[in-house]
Amino acid sequence: MLGAARRCGVLRSLLCYIAAMTDLAGKHIVLGLSGGIACYKAAELCRGLVKQGATVQVVMTEAAEHFITPVTMQALSNRPVYGSQWDAREPNNMPHINLSREADAIVIAPCSADFMAKLLHGRADDLLSLMCLARPVESVPLLLAPAMNREMWAHPATQRNVAQLRADGATVFAVGSGDQACGEIGDGRMLEAAELLEDLVAFFQPKLLAGRRVLVTAGPTYEAIDPVRGITNRSSGKMGFAVARAAREAGAEVTLVAGPVHLATPRGVTRVDVASAEQMLQAVLPQVAQADVFVATAAVADWRPTAPAEHKIKKDGASAPPAIAFSETTDILATVAASEAAQSGRLYCVGFAAESQDLLHNAQAKRVRKGVPLLVGNIGPATFGRDDNALLLVDAHGTQALPQAGKLTLARQLIAEIAARTKA
Ligand code: CTP
Repeated sequence: MLGAARRCGVLRSLLCYIAAMTDLAGKHIVLGLSGGIACYKAAELCRGLVKQGATVQVVMTEAAEHFITPVTMQALSNRPVYGSQWDAREPNNMPHINLSREADAIVIAPCSADFMAKLLHGRADDLLSLMCLARPVESVPLLLAPAMNREMWAHPATQRNVAQLRADGATVFAVGSGDQACGEIGDGRMLEAAELLEDLVAFFQPKLLAGRRVLVTAGPTYEAIDPVRGITNRSSGKMGFAVARAAREAGAEVTLVAGPVHLATPRGVTRVDVASAEQMLQAVLPQVAQADVFVATAAVADWRPTAPAEHKIKKDGASAPPAIAFSETTDILATVAASEAAQSGRLYCVGFAAESQDLLHNAQAKRVRKGVPLLVGNIGPATFGRDDNALLLVDAHGTQALPQAGKLTLARQLIAEIAARTKA
């Protein structure tokens, strides 16, 4: 039998997990497939969209049906697939109108070179291109996931088409790089389904920090005792990575300075890996002049061994354990908060406080001590390594609780708070 506290914890994690997995709840996506070997990835993308809470209507070109069957896509989307503009299932016989009016977005994945050329010219000789042309451009965004051989991708005609499609209002996702089905290696692969999903979720987030530059520190630091041993802490980096992802979703240009963690870099975020507090400081300082917002989520070591041994310290069985002298590390947040950029009001600094007790009092005192306008308190031992958390926002005017939720949900709320406090 699970204890009550444990049951509560499991339920809490489950709810956070479900919340995090339904970022596209209520969205209706028309998923268009044009011809290309990357059609196999569209099956996984369709599944991912449904898992994220979206309803999906698949539309395929004749060429796409050579690569994957409508049966597969119907089974995954739980809806009959459309392929022809003469589809008699629609009472008015106008699937191109009906399907495009229902959509929150049309996503073409894979989008072949030929299909891009077709879109560019406004041609409409099959259902998918006809539907794209007939879509209400103001309310139904068109998102394209290119997929092709590297020479086709690099060709000036394709690059011209990409630029023109963007100018016409389409969102053209990046391409992946690596081994291609043809055996060549280079740019032009369609992004993986998980990458496209992350980009799509980001697309629908409000662009509260568009054009702003956000600098984030995350994770623990590692302070060497000798070449094989060191001192670190239990921070997983998950909260900081979520903050970086949420900032990027909000349209910011994000640099993430990360201590040693095993986490994937959020899409579109520039990551700088460091180990020690000193390395983190040296990675942060050059970024300060360009940044608009600094969010210090890292659990930076307060002390480091003053003189790490050059070689492994040996235990000879006779002598006492080694005495290790410690020096205080530089406080990165306080240093940045004291910089000209922050003091002039151009850079907005946000600190985190990982406490084990008396959160309110400790967070208030820490905000003043660090000299930052906003400090985010949390109970460290209750959240380290977990996917959920609860935050307490402390500023000069008072406090605001962000109740227990998934870290990405909390990160989005925090980014909205930062955006509101830094509105030009
Ligand atoms: N911080 C920092 N550099 C340090 C120590 C802390 O940038 N050398 C930042 C953290 O990233 C966080 C904030 O300061 O945003 C508070 O960190 P925390 O460890 O909670 O506080 P400390 O200043 O270390 O105080 P204490 O350990 O006494 O609670």
